[in-house]
Amino acid sequence: MKILGIETSCDETSAAVIEEKKGCLNVVSNIVSSQIKLHAQWGGVVPNLAAREHVKNILPVIEEALHQAKVSSQEIDLLAVTQGPGLIPALLIGVNAAKTLSYLWEKPLLGIHHIEGHIYANFIENKISAISNFRIPISKQIRKSQKQNTEKTSLEFPLLALVVSGGHTQLVLMKKHLDYQVIGQTLDDAAGEAFDKVARILGLSYPGGPAISQKAKLISNNKYKKLATKFPRPLIHTKDFNFSFSGLKTAVLYLTRKNESLLSNTLFIKEICHDFQQSVIDVLIHKTLAAAKEYQPKTIILAGGVSANWELRKQLGEKIALELPGIRYQVPEIEYSGDNAAMIAAAGYFRWKNSKNKKQYKKTWENISADSNLKLS
Ligand code: KG4
Ligand code: ZN
Repeated sequence: MKILGIETSCDETSAAVIEEKKGCLNVVSNIVSSQIKLHAQWGGVVPNLAAREHVKNILPVIEEALHQAKVSSQEIDLLAVTQGPGLIPALLIGVNAAKTLSYLWEKPLLGIHHIEGHIYANFIENKISAISNFRIPISKQIRKSQKQNTEKTSLEFPLLALVVSGGHTQLVLMKKHLDYQVIGQTLDDAAGEAFDKVARILGLSYPGGPAISQKAKLISNNKYKKLATKFPRPLIHTKDFNFSFSGLKTAVLYLTRKNESLLSNTLFIKEICHDFQQSVIDVLIHKTLAAAKEYQPKTIILAGGVSANWELRKQLGEKIALELPGIRYQVPEIEYSGDNAAMIAAAGYFRWKNSKNKKQYKKTWENISADSNLKLS
């Protein structure tokens, strides 16, 4: 079975072809056209500019995905598109393109929740991925656990997902496929949003996550001179599984205001990045482990753009191995951490496979609509 995925919820125009063979999902092509450079000058995504770029890019990106996969439209069995949440002008482009293709090609169409896509990025087996263009060395332990993971074709439920992106920070419990229970979430800013806002305060580039993690890496713990005060670990001791990152961002703002003369001091900036990042990681790990102790999942996965953060990947893996060694830990391949259409196609496959009424999807092009506030259900 071959699935064409389409994603335009924010600032990446993406199309992918994935193929299901013997219960294994392989990415045959995954084209991501990023608008980062365009939005960087504004310090964040401008919705109407994003939509204009999606309009320009959507057809070439879909054509390239089919071309690289060496498949014709007739060979596609199913279309899957991000229906929401996201920026409405951006979502509309992908949804309307998918509806048009579904009608023209007479292929079934599924609307996918963006976070569902991030979660299902962990179900992609990467053996024949066409885009494994960069790999960063990772700790032995994580490599070992990833190796074990790729040897199996399915992750075991119950599964606990730590979803961390630019718009979401959630702990999601899944007792089976497509069954989502949000057991905790951010009360204000998302983790990725906090990275982006702190980067802006520090005069670093957009998106803030990669910029901050690069600076943080330049501080090795033994050289850490403690110029910066230690930032708070918000809500770390509350009994629920909620998060809050807006106060942390404010703490960074106040510290920089108090020390304006130090803003040109590169060590000062690196130390802020290091301690801010560690503060976010500490809270994420603490809450995830507390939730795992209460809900006893068999698997913990990381999902969303912030899952590209190597310190988070590494430290969460190490803590699980230490405190909950029976639990399997899975992170998405780095190319499927950020927004991409392969993850949308993967989620589409599971929705299709688990649907009792597959005929309904032949006519979804008539009524499916983009929904910026779509709920995970
Ligand atoms: O999932 P994503 O690509 O888009 C949304 O659905 O929001 O996530 C984007 C977010 C941005 O806030 C970006 O700063 C963050 O992910 N991010 C990172 C890293 N790479 C991307 N945050 C921390 N460390 C990173 N290495
Ligand atoms: Zn995303």
